[in-house]
Amino acid sequence: VTRIPLIAGNWKLNQDHLQAIALVQKLAWTLQDGKHDHAAVEVAVFPPFTDLRSVQTLISAERFELRFGAQDVSEHESGAHTGEVSAAMLAKLECSYAIVGHSERRQDHAETDAIVGRKAAAALRAGIVPVICVGETAEDLEQHGASAVPVQQLRDVLAELPDAGEIVVAYEPVWAIGSGQAATAEQAQQVCQALRAAIAEGRGAEAAEATRILYGGSVKSGNIAGFMREPDVDGALVGGASLDAAEFAAIARFR
Ligand code: G3H
Repeated sequence: VTRIPLIAGNWKLNQDHLQAIALVQKLAWTLQDGKHDHAAVEVAVFPPFTDLRSVQTLISAERFELRFGAQDVSEHESGAHTGEVSAAMLAKLECSYAIVGHSERRQDHAETDAIVGRKAAAALRAGIVPVICVGETAEDLEQHGASAVPVQQLRDVLAELPDAGEIVVAYEPVWAIGSGQAATAEQAQQVCQALRAAIAEGRGAEAAEATRILYGGSVKSGNIAGFMREPDVDGALVGGASLDAAEFAAIARFR
């Protein structure tokens, strides 16, 4: 199985919808200038909800090969859930992906693995690929080592999912996010390998081979190549560095 690498940019709470247009345009042009082969390395951006319509319009009008997704999705389909956005609504906006279970949401919104799992299931029902985030805190790392917590999180999320349907997994050690202190490529490989084994347990060996597992946490153009050389790291979930079009394009050009 060949897994097409995915370089994903999570903008978090940055860029209004006009800034989003400027950033996507600059990113697409920079990738085009570099003759980026989108079939060989997929590039996706994850703007705030309010930007998705502008981003969709721009990408489809200009026929950019960029993909995009949301940073979260409701576990509910519709009804009395003020402030929520459904997977079907995202699908109508041509979102390919939705991030679920980012550590910032687990922290700020008390999202449990069961909630994250139901969100991922809602995404799958609408034909959206969930990008399931897992990762240990510095405290977890000290107490249990690197793999135990992310593997358990993934098992608990997978328990809520149907066996079929494409998923992406993102390993993001919480201590590496926004800290400038990335994991080493070896650390990332070790955990991504353990996560792949957990996918094999839950969904079968074939699905595990086909599933893309990303590393996230202080990824930059200067350290991406090391991660991408590891056999079980299939891409990156990039935060801060995805807000700079030239830097993000350089990350996508990791080879
Ligand atoms: O979703 C992205 C991650 O939280 C990584 O953020 O690249 O700013 O460390 P960062």
